[in-house]
Amino acid sequence: MDFNNVLLNKDDGIALIIINRPKALNALNYETLKELDSVLDIVENDKEIKVLIITGSGEKAFVAGADIAEMSNMTPLEAKKFSLYGQKVFRKIEMLSKPVIAAVNGFALGGGCELSMACDIRIASKNAKFGQPEVGLGIIPGFSGTQRLPRLIGTSKAKELIFTGDMINSDEAYKIGLISKVVELSDLIEEAKKLAKKMMSKSQIAISLAKEAINKGMETDLDTGNTIEAEKFSLCFTTDDQKEGMIAFSEKRAPKFGK
Ligand code: CAA
Repeated sequence: MDFNNVLLNKDDGIALIIINRPKALNALNYETLKELDSVLDIVENDKEIKVLIITGSGEKAFVAGADIAEMSNMTPLEAKKFSLYGQKVFRKIEMLSKPVIAAVNGFALGGGCELSMACDIRIASKNAKFGQPEVGLGIIPGFSGTQRLPRLIGTSKAKELIFTGDMINSDEAYKIGLISKVVELSDLIEEAKKLAKKMMSKSQIAISLAKEAINKGMETDLDTGNTIEAEKFSLCFTTDDQKEGMIAFSEKRAPKFGK
């Protein structure tokens, strides 16, 4: 399938989605969101793909936000539909059965910061900048920024960033726990792939169950989260990977998962 604003490459079990509207700093208009929505289905259904990396095209921007030109004349109802649709697409990323790494290669503002937050892990290049500048446009974050940012970094810092619209660089994003690694721009995709490969040497079904347990647990109380964890833990014991992992340990050899 051909898309105008999104590229999908697949190599060695790793899918790379590139948001590709460099003239608009990869801003997310409806067309791009719809394409991303479709590409995510391809990635979910392709059994050869084990890990997904999302990045932006060019050296300047990951995604500079939702498309301001497209939003400028929206009615309140259209704005609500746009917000709900962006939230739905990003939720699809969060609920994907495979790990998703955001390789943030430049501006991750508004919808771009929100896109990165829907991914499981964020690594960023030194030139990357994060922020939720919406209040400077007379709006608020609409693709779950008001929900995920406080969950990730706490309400005080999240409110500071959202109320001021300030941009922070990668070092600051690392310090507040928004991202897990800062690397040179030229190494960014290789670093993301290295991380992906490390995960691919483990049990994919176990990673997927861990992802579900973490995601669902973060949305509930500890006791309910613990029940979810015990269920997923138990499910592991129905898999060949559990048998292989434990036999391999006792035989002092590397496990061969996914047989
Ligand atoms: N939407 C549409 N177009 C955008 C855009 C966006 N979010 N961000 C950048 N562009 C376009 C610019 O209009 C410009 O196009 P032209 O060349 O046709 O004028 C092109 O990309 C290059 O941008 P700049 O000339 O502005 O580049 P710069 O280096 O001077 O500045 C920047 C870079 C600081 C990222 C600046 O572009 C900027 O502030 N962009 C907007 C960031 C923003 O406010 N994002 C939040 C959007 S609202 C949102 O996302 C809501 C939500 O949660 C759903």
